[in-house]
Amino acid sequence: MDTLFIGQNIIKLKSVDSTNNFLTNLSNKSSLVEGTLVVGYNQLDGRGQHGNKWQSEAGKSLTISVLLFPKIDLDRQFLFNKCISLSICETLKHFDISPRIKWPNDIFIDDKKVAGILIENSIQQQIISKSIVGIGMNVNNDSLDFTFATSLKIHKSMHFDMDHLLVLLCKELERHYLLLKSDTKSIIERYDNHLYRVNLPTTFLANDSVVKGVIKKVDDLGRLVLEIEGEIHSFSWGELRFDFS
Ligand code: BTN
Repeated sequence: MDTLFIGQNIIKLKSVDSTNNFLTNLSNKSSLVEGTLVVGYNQLDGRGQHGNKWQSEAGKSLTISVLLFPKIDLDRQFLFNKCISLSICETLKHFDISPRIKWPNDIFIDDKKVAGILIENSIQQQIISKSIVGIGMNVNNDSLDFTFATSLKIHKSMHFDMDHLLVLLCKELERHYLLLKSDTKSIIERYDNHLYRVNLPTTFLANDSVVKGVIKKVDDLGRLVLEIEGEIHSFSWGELRFDFS
């Protein structure tokens, strides 16, 4: 692996419940180097955000977890999420794909989800001391059970070399992780530029009401900032969801 540390220590598993679970348990039991990468060929019980399940197909989906020690302040937590989302986008751009980040951190191609991120942090004295970054991507799947999901293969009508994709992803993760420490502004700007439906009038559902606004950015706390009838409003996750109906 042509990287400094991400993926230098790599654990490949034929079968695993969840790569995040595996790496969490292992890192609790033994001291692992930063950048340790767990790759699951067949993930049987993948976890998604907010207690959802994450489905994958043996050999066709990319399911990985990376161990990082970001040592960033808890109040800058979302910046770390931005860095990871951006790394996935930049990886896909190597294949002439134009991905978007659907707030807060789903990776979309056109109007469909191609990848998801599950970041699980350990906090010590207001600092993120350890992070398990789980990434699931639909790669060579021929069909998916969900209407709003796609795979790289479906989108590009070609087969993807999983090893090559993984190397590129590790390189982009590392590049952005280092950039996070040296040029935070560029992460913020580029995340906003990649936002799904940025600067476009968009309809959302908030509890029982419909909200129409223009996406401007995502702030440092991870809130979606909308312009609604000339005024700026910020929404936390859970207050608002995209209306796909
Ligand atoms: C989401 O969009 O809900 C997040 C999905 C994250 C899935 C990945 S697959 C590898 C890692 N292991 C897990 O159990 N989950 C993450």
